[in-house]
Amino acid sequence: MYRALRPLIFALDAERAHRVTIAGLKLLPRRAPSFDPILSSDVAGLTFPSPVGLAAGFDKDGEVPDAMLSLGFGFVEVGTVTPLPQAGNPGPRLFRLVEDRAVINRMGFNGGGQAAALARLAQRPRHGIVGVNIGANKDAADRIADYAQGVRIMAPVADYLTINISSPNTPGLRTLQAGGELAELLDAVRSARSRNGPPVFLKVAPDLDSGDHDRIMRAAIDHGIDALIVANTTVSRPPLASGHAVESGGLSGRPLKALALAQLRLFRAASGGAIPLIAAGGIEDADDAFARVRAGASLIQLYTALVYEGPGLARRIATGLAERLRRSEFANIAEAVGSE
Ligand code: FNR
Repeated sequence: MYRALRPLIFALDAERAHRVTIAGLKLLPRRAPSFDPILSSDVAGLTFPSPVGLAAGFDKDGEVPDAMLSLGFGFVEVGTVTPLPQAGNPGPRLFRLVEDRAVINRMGFNGGGQAAALARLAQRPRHGIVGVNIGANKDAADRIADYAQGVRIMAPVADYLTINISSPNTPGLRTLQAGGELAELLDAVRSARSRNGPPVFLKVAPDLDSGDHDRIMRAAIDHGIDALIVANTTVSRPPLASGHAVESGGLSGRPLKALALAQLRLFRAASGGAIPLIAAGGIEDADDAFARVRAGASLIQLYTALVYEGPGLARRIATGLAERLRRSEFANIAEAVGSE
């Protein structure tokens, strides 16, 4: 069905197509998905029914988390939400690179802000795993204070929180990954957490230098971060065929796959399994998902492949992953993590 619809959707400008999709998802009847028990795993104190999650950026304002759970995602990450509403960058700012099965975006944390997202998420019944990804406003006087506020405000409606310091579209944001600033940020996050609050994940960029992995890993562990998401979009430009390749912003999808997998392996080598890893970047099918699990990911997330493959993708990957686990004689996901 999606194959038939796709040309109509692709005839629209990418951002309008996204708005139409969100509007359509709001009408979707809710269904409780069923998952093969072999896919269940405990990560950071939560029980994930499937390791296949929706990455941040699809549902920035928390409008359709339950629709996405109904489509067979084992967990959904809404956001990035910023303390205050903001418009983001001028359009056009979202580009499909069809020949490359990729997307470039320079949205710039557009969204309705934390108060609106909080109110919306507070109304939904609490079921399934919905994480909230938090960021800083572009004009924030104190970006670290924005993250601390996000942790405090969004914790009551989040099954987990993600500290996103890896978007390339807010100038200077990624400098928070550097040594001194990262320690200061993670100190502030730790102080903002409450004793019974949700686990906190840290999301990093794939554009890191060789010394960064050990350093970031150590800072994360020292500050009680519960998992690392590897990775956000890349500012690098591997060879691309599409005319949109020259657009500035973060590249996602198939051309990010090799880089994201390489970065995951570097973080796995740095951690030796001491902290759970969540893989994102160019995951398109069950083979990709299984390769990330074997490279050390406890969970995986995707976004761009959904644009090309349609709403049945999460379910197809989950089914394929269960088959691969059985074929390789793993009793569950956890046994396969880092087994390559
Ligand atoms: C994103 N991504 C993203 N990540 C994040 O932490 N906060 C955000 O607001 C967004 N926004 C966003 C918008 C768009 C249009 C895209 C395509 C991506 C990054 C996303 O969560 C993921 O890390 C990367 O896209 C890599 O995964 P895929 O898309 O290759 O599966």
